[in-house]
Amino acid sequence: METAQSAPAPLLELHGVVKHFGGTTALGGVDFDLRQGEIHALLGENGAGKSTLIKILGGIHLPDAGMIRLDGKPTPIRKVADADRLGIRIIHQELSLAPNLSVAENIYLGREPRHWGVPGLLDRRKMAAEAQALLARLGMNEIRSLRQPVDRLSIAHQQLVEIARALSAQARILVLDEPTSSLSEAETEALFTTLKRLRDQGVGIIYISHRLEEIIRLADRITVLRDGKSIGTQSASGVNQRNLIRWMVGRDLTEHYPRPTRRPGTPALEVRDLKNSRVHGVSFVLRYGEILGLAGLVGSGRTELGRAICGIERLDSGEMTLDGERLKIASVRQAISRGMGYLTEDRKDQGLFPRMSIRDNCVAPSLREFAGTLGWMNEGRIRRHAEEIRARFNIVAPSTSQLAGRLSGGNQQKVLLSMWMGILTQSGANGSARPRGLIHGKRQLASPRLLIVDEPTRGVDIGARSEIYALLRDLAATGVGILMISSDLQEILGLADRVLVMRGGRIVAQLPREAATEENIIAAATGVQFGPELTAEGRLDGECLT
Ligand SMILES: Nc1ncnc2c1ncn2[C@@H]1O[C@H](COP(=O)(O)OP(=O)(O)OP(=O)(O)O)[C@@H](O)[C@H]1O
Ligand SMILES: [Mg+2]
Repeated sequence: METAQSAPAPLLELHGVVKHFGGTTALGGVDFDLRQGEIHALLGENGAGKSTLIKILGGIHLPDAGMIRLDGKPTPIRKVADADRLGIRIIHQELSLAPNLSVAENIYLGREPRHWGVPGLLDRRKMAAEAQALLARLGMNEIRSLRQPVDRLSIAHQQLVEIARALSAQARILVLDEPTSSLSEAETEALFTTLKRLRDQGVGIIYISHRLEEIIRLADRITVLRDGKSIGTQSASGVNQRNLIRWMVGRDLTEHYPRPTRRPGTPALEVRDLKNSRVHGVSFVLRYGEILGLAGLVGSGRTELGRAICGIERLDSGEMTLDGERLKIASVRQAISRGMGYLTEDRKDQGLFPRMSIRDNCVAPSLREFAGTLGWMNEGRIRRHAEEIRARFNIVAPSTSQLAGRLSGGNQQKVLLSMWMGILTQSGANGSARPRGLIHGKRQLASPRLLIVDEPTRGVDIGARSEIYALLRDLAATGVGILMISSDLQEILGLADRVLVMRGGRIVAQLPREAATEENIIAAATGVQFGPELTAEGRLDGECLT
């Protein structure tokens, strides 16, 4: 796209923007410009300063130094209302919906359509119709009622509502800070169509994502931030994942997905004909030592299936066996007592302690492990353990005594994962982690045998992703059976030994690693291209269904 090249001044320019938080320099003098009618991707590792830059643009943070120009004119943005007035619409990384308000109310919060002729009266019909149309355009068709409170929706649907809200008002500048972190291919595609249309209408779009293939597909130009500094802007034509990674991280990252080291073992969990309001007769087998990927569109029932297995959601019928024995699970506590761990997609409820240090968060669920004689805590070991985690996942913070709530989104996720997975490393000679206990929320699970993870790498950058993949692979190598729910197709393809695809509450395909390709997973998930007979279980994988 060379559309705006001849324009006199860029739509937006940031010059020398500086932002400190205490001793942390989040932005150390960033230059950035956005043209009319372009999609400009902002790339960088967790903690690089992307969200801080966006919050300055949105009037949430005031810069310590620097200047913002709009259409070439210096334009201070001192508060959120300023950004709003200037037509800057932002979809923030942390969802900011009002949980008790309905879907439609959230979309129109603060600028509800009024009745013509009757001043002050809300035009609810218009509001509902417009909200429905917006959501449909984003591919969110099966939303049951616009009147339901948003906290009843899945994280992915909440994300779509958040996007619809930003799109419901005229924008000159649209900023999306990781909008697709829990969306699958189909919703992402629908969003991209909308974004390209807006771009062609002249809107300037800033797009942040850790999914590099999205950047390559969508962006016109790319700017990379590293440690709070802009290290350059390039046209996106001709870039590939490899050179993007090298540009962003400063070195080559190889072996992104660790190979399996052993063949899956005996069947661990067998589920037969599970049914409830969102799951319509699901059967599959999870073996010890395998990573079983679970793909599907938003709303296909992936998360609900995971929750039903763990006893969080009710089951109407069906049965489960573990090691051939009947398994009845009515609560997470029971799941844990049977050696089953569960990482939810909903990090907010998952128990990061924002007012505690990184160090205390890391060991909170496993304090007993760190108690010395007479009950004194072994501070030295705690510090070493936290340092190990910080190094392994590259958690960006001045020290491990930094409060967890002050970390960037992706870094918070890393702390959560590490505390949850209880990487009580024994620092083996080869440096690999020896999992000794899994933690669910704030409880510890002594001998994990099964693990269900829902979107484990949401918002995590490429380097730390590799670490999480290595960790999951290490767990599988010790015999843990892992069900990995993910909307990231690359991650499913790269890591899973076998792939289940859900559509409309049913499993519509089971693919062994060799047969799993982007095309047939998408085809099965959307039901387009080949009919059910081609994706029927027996046809693609005779061995999987019992
Ligand atoms: N309110 C705050 N108080 C203290 N430090 C902060 C605060 N907000 C951000 N930081 C720090 O500023 C730096 C940049 O954070 P920012 O959230 O901008 O990163 P990011 O690029 O958006 O990362 P991610 O990919 O994880 O979302 C980080 O070191 C972070 O810890
Ligand atoms: Mg961020």
